[in-house]
Amino acid sequence: MAFDPCGIIGKSTPLQEVFRVLTKVAPSDSTVLVTGESGTGKELLVRALHRNSKRADKPFVPINCGAIPRELLESELFGHEKGAFTHAIRTKVGRFELAHGGTVFLDEIGEMDLLLQVKILRVLQEREFERVGGSKTIKTDVRIIAATNRNLEEEVGRGNFREDLFYRLNVIPIDLPPLRERGEDVLTLANYFLGRFGKNRPSGTLNLEQQARNILLNYSWPGNVRELENFMERMSILCDGNQIALGDLPEKILKETGIEPPPRPLAATDGAFRWPDLGDLRDYGPTLKDFLDQVEDRLLTQALEEAEGVKNRAAEILGIKRTTLIEKLKKKDMM
Ligand SMILES: Nc1ncnc2c1ncn2[C@@H]1O[C@H](COP(=O)(O)OP(=O)(O)OP(=O)(O)O)[C@@H](O)[C@H]1O
Ligand SMILES: [Mg+2]
Repeated sequence: MAFDPCGIIGKSTPLQEVFRVLTKVAPSDSTVLVTGESGTGKELLVRALHRNSKRADKPFVPINCGAIPRELLESELFGHEKGAFTHAIRTKVGRFELAHGGTVFLDEIGEMDLLLQVKILRVLQEREFERVGGSKTIKTDVRIIAATNRNLEEEVGRGNFREDLFYRLNVIPIDLPPLRERGEDVLTLANYFLGRFGKNRPSGTLNLEQQARNILLNYSWPGNVRELENFMERMSILCDGNQIALGDLPEKILKETGIEPPPRPLAATDGAFRWPDLGDLRDYGPTLKDFLDQVEDRLLTQALEEAEGVKNRAAEILGIKRTTLIEKLKKKDMM
């Protein structure tokens, strides 16, 4: 049966090689380890893998091992019995059980803690586990697909990743090439995204001028397809007319490809409003919260000065309720 690419766009040789492996591996039950830089489309690929497998009509259960705190991840994966820990009010079924018959996608597996890695190894070897706080062994029939943007072999060398688990996962390695190595795919993808984001534009879908195309082909795309997608969305909103010209491209891209950015008519000049940037955050922060607190303090003080201390008026100037203003002032010890 032909492989359904499920929305993965691109025809470059490195991507075709990926499809060749996918076509072979999808119908099998083998464990697959997908690697590639951030934004290369690992998740999209794993979903396609499941959709093209004989488990397609069974659950696809993704879990982001990097996004869930270590203490919660174990019970997310394996479930827990009532009373297993303080907040375990009722029994919880874990993702491995929910996925029975289907596929579990362990995303960002490189972030997983060493103790949990042992348990994953057991599922891979024995297809069994216990819920947290439980003694009953549960059998599960799942296919495991893992992804990471780390180099797991290096992590093994550093002692951050178990060697035995690495080899168990790495049965079929698929490495997604970075976008900068996919040649003309950059333009195919750019046009695909422009088509998608152009649907609601009054002046129709944007086109890329020849010079802009050359630049996109030469840029390094550190954020890969995600960066390109976000960029095309931004262009679709910000560009007038129906062409993306050299001057529309952000400085970052122009500079890297050796083009001096043309002067921008809307650039803030002295005295004009300027959005704060990371330099300001570093000078006044150090954290985002500290920085925003200081901005808020200044605005509150100015509003109070302008309102000559009358809280009702100050609140009106700020567009907030009087009670909210008072709450803020109390919290900040400003009254
Ligand atoms: N070949 C492609 N064709 C169409 N869209 C793509 C392609 N590759 C990636 N995308 C889109 O780019 C975005 C990023 O893809 P995805 O989330 O799969 O990347 P990732 O490798 O998992 O990234 P991360 O490592 O940051 O988690 C998504 O919106 C996805 O739909
Ligand atoms: Mg991902």
